[in-house]
Amino acid sequence: MFVIAHLSDPHLGPIPEARLSELLGKRFFGMMNWIGARRRNFGAATLTPLMDDLMAHAPDHVCVTGDLVNVSLPAEFDTGAAFLTSLGPADKVTVVPGNHDAYVRSAMHYHLEHWAPFLAGDDSHPHTPVDVDAFPFVRRRGSVAIVGVSTAVPTAVFLAGGHVGRSQRARLADLLRRLGEEGLFRAVMIHHPPVGARAFHRDLRDAEAVREVIGSAGAELVMHGHDHRASLGTIASATGDIPVVGVPSASAGPDDERGAGRYNLYRVTGGPGAWRCEMETRGYAPGEAGVRARERRPILG
Ligand SMILES: [Fe+2]
Ligand SMILES: [Fe+2]
Repeated sequence: MFVIAHLSDPHLGPIPEARLSELLGKRFFGMMNWIGARRRNFGAATLTPLMDDLMAHAPDHVCVTGDLVNVSLPAEFDTGAAFLTSLGPADKVTVVPGNHDAYVRSAMHYHLEHWAPFLAGDDSHPHTPVDVDAFPFVRRRGSVAIVGVSTAVPTAVFLAGGHVGRSQRARLADLLRRLGEEGLFRAVMIHHPPVGARAFHRDLRDAEAVREVIGSAGAELVMHGHDHRASLGTIASATGDIPVVGVPSASAGPDDERGAGRYNLYRVTGGPGAWRCEMETRGYAPGEAGVRARERRPILG
């Protein structure tokens, strides 16, 4: 059995003090947003016990599907790196960027530089920053292949969309096919959900094309964040439905209106052509303190 832990959107606070020049434009509105809403609902008081619970389960691998920071100030990426380090050694912890990790054009490379050991594929030197063309990357861990997709593109103020892009989609199709031929359990990480409906300004622009790639090339599991809600969708493939799972923000409190802070454990068993995956959801519930198991169900096989 291989156990994957999946968390997302911790939006680590507090936002460091910024120089005024760094706060012009989109970051200013992001900062106001954080001060107004996030400060009430997001914080270490809920994130720390949730992560303690995760670590107590000693997963084989931890997957973090983006939005670690808020407005992409340089110092936030150090906080992000410290958070990733707290979850385990870089070869057992993988991150993909979210829209908040590429909030403005000038910050596009921060996550690649600061989090390189956590998003370097098997082929790249772990201490060499990868670049945008390095996506998707793959990390083979036993019978599991962790595939990291980037949807991070800088967007204008009030926009929170994502884009995989034609060339990354072509590389993803090749990679998933090859990994399928190797008989590996393909676990895809992507910040923006490739399924489900949401407002245009928050959506994955090429969601339909991404679904087509994953459906035709195949995968066993897709993990995402962004919505801050628990969700379970599917992408149809020749060998059956591929589960597509979203988790709420790991920093959300028990009474957060979009969903209490939670993470998932996926227990992978079986083998090529007969994979099984059971999902356990752990975290908070409205009106209750404390982290507990909330749901346990098979999602594949
Ligand atoms: Fe988020
Ligand atoms: Fe997001």
